Formats: sequence, C-alpha cells, structure tokens
Amino acid sequence: MSVKPKILVTGSNGQLGKELKQLESSFPQYEFVFLSREDLPIHHFELLRNFFKGYHPQYLINCAAYTAVDRAETEKELAFQVNAEAVGVMAAVCKEYNTKLIHISTDYVFDGTATKPYTEEAPTNPQSVYGASKLEGEQEALQFNPDTIIIRTAWVYSEFGKNFVKTMLKLMSEKEEISVVADQVGSPTYAANLAQAILAIVSSANWQPGIYHYTDEGIISWYEFALAIKEITGSTCRVNPISTTAYPTPAKRPAYSVLDKSKIQKTFGVVTNNWKSSFAVCLSKLK
Ligand SMILES: NC(=O)c1ccc[n+]([C@@H]2O[C@H](COP(=O)([O-])OP(=O)(O)OC[C@H]3O[C@@H](n4cnc5c(N)ncnc54)[C@H](OP(=O)(O)O)[C@@H]3O)[C@@H](O)[C@H]2O)c1
Repeated sequence: MSVKPKILVTGSNGQLGKELKQLESSFPQYEFVFLSREDLPIHHFELLRNFFKGYHPQYLINCAAYTAVDRAETEKELAFQVNAEAVGVMAAVCKEYNTKLIHISTDYVFDGTATKPYTEEAPTNPQSVYGASKLEGEQEALQFNPDTIIIRTAWVYSEFGKNFVKTMLKLMSEKEEISVVADQVGSPTYAANLAQAILAIVSSANWQPGIYHYTDEGIISWYEFALAIKEITGSTCRVNPISTTAYPTPAKRPAYSVLDKSKIQKTFGVVTNNWKSSFAVCLSKLK
C-alpha cells in the first residue's frame, strides 16, 4: 500500500487556509491535515514539537499569522511571538523532521517608497510592527532552515474571513457615500490563486528554497479597487477618493506595494492571473 505524503496546514481558518482546504480534493495524491489556531496555536512551541513527533508531515504550509496590522502596534510582543519566534521554532522542527516548509510573508517588509515592482532582493525596511515581525519571521525561517520557501504576497482577499472586498460590500450596502484611499497602490490577490500556486510548487517536485513574490497581475489603488467593486455589483453608493493623510491608521501602510513576480514564474512555472477576472470569480462565489 502506498503512503501519501502528508501536508500540514496551520492557521487553517484564515483566508488562505480555507482556500487550501477548497483545493484538497484536487490534490488526492496528498493527505492534508488542517489545523486552526484552536487545534495548534503555533506560539505554544511544545504543542508544535509534539505534533511533529506524532505526525511527521512531509510538507508544512504555514498560513498562521498575527494579521491584525493596526492592533500589532500595541500588541508588539504577541505579534513577534507568532510572526517571528514561532516561525523560527517551526523552521527548526521542520529541519529536524525533514519537513519542507512553505511560509507566507508580506509586502509590509518594504517601506513602499519604490517606483518599480519590488524584487526579492530589494532592500527591506518595514514601517510597522506587523511588517517588522513578518520580516523577522522570514529571517528566522531561513536561519533555522535554509531549505524553506517563503512567499511574500499582498492585498489578499477571498470569500472567507475579513478583507477589503467584504468590508466594501458591507459599507456599500449600508451607506450612500464612502471615502477610500487613492494614494496607495498594489495588486489585489485572490487567496484561491495563491493557494493554487502553493500547491503547484509542492506538486512540481522542484523544490528551490528562498524568497519568492506572488500576487495577481495589475496595479490599482484601493479607491480604484472600490470603484471596481461598485461597478461589478451595480452599487449606487458614491465612492470618493481620499489621501492617506485623511485616513490615519495606527500602522503605516506602504504607498507602493507592487511585487515583481518573475522569479516564481520562471522557477516554478507558476501562472499569475489578472486581478479583475480573479475578483469576478470570487464575487460569483460570494453571491
Ligand atoms: N491578508 C492580506 O492582505 C495579506 C497580505 C500579505 C501577506 N499576508 C500573509 O498571508 C498569510 C495568510 O494570511 P490570511 O489573509 O489568510 O490571514 P488570516 O485570514 O488573518 O488568517 C490567519 C490565521 O492565523 C490564525 N492564527 C493567528 N494566530 C495564531 C496562532 N498563534 N497560532 C495558530 N494560528 C494562528 C488565525 O486564527 P483565527 O482565525 O482564530 O484568528 C487565522 O485563522 C499570513 O502569513 C499573512 O501575514 C496576508
């Protein structure tokens, strides 16, 4: 009897975790185990170690993260514990058990002052606690297990969890007029596409460790994204552009969050999708 390679997914109740779960039946060659925060709080290091001792997964896709960007400014310790320290422990345990680790990181490791898409080698300079904790997570992962693959992504949305799309849909259904920041640009990324890219890498049998960038294609502002949501849903809500200074937040956001995807495309043959057609797919699922 052949034994299927096991894929462990942490943070499985988040946007990305749930999209990976949706793909489970398309990858029957693997045995998936999905663990939510309640099942495996990754900052409880002994639980993490014990789980590996009993289970020995061939792959770990770490979707668990402290993602409350603004709250992180006042919960620094917890943000670093989950996004940095736990990732280091996870990487070390993966090394010990010969488990291949895919860890997810963020555009917030950059300061957003670039004028052309960030490559993986571009200098990092996080401007928030969340960004700094995620950068330290990348460093810890590669320090404790250089065989790790890190995928930085940005502007993630899906039909699951909390995200910009769902916030806009709610606001547009409740209000006659909303204001949305127009001077921050990026590439809206459907979590289902990211999940597909991750499993394409796992199943490619071409493991090339290092940092990679992945988002959907296209560059728009949050305001333009809101306009697209209004247009596709036929909402009558008025959408006004505002500047970042008119919408102050505890954590600073990068003004330019565009990532260069050529490395992941060339290395793994990963296909990146147009943001608007991907968004239409997500909306059709939300309806
Ligand atoms: N969302 C974005 O726009 C974005 C952009 C760039 C990068 N990323 C990165 O992409 C990855 C996936 O993000 P996402 O959008 O799927 O985030 P998400 O929806 O917030 O999911 C994160 C999951 O991690 C869980 N979690 C939090 N603390 C944990 C802990 N100590 N132990 C175990 N699980 C824990 C959360 O549990 P609960 O469900 O119980 O809260 C949640 O289910 C993260 O690494 C994030 O930093 C996201």
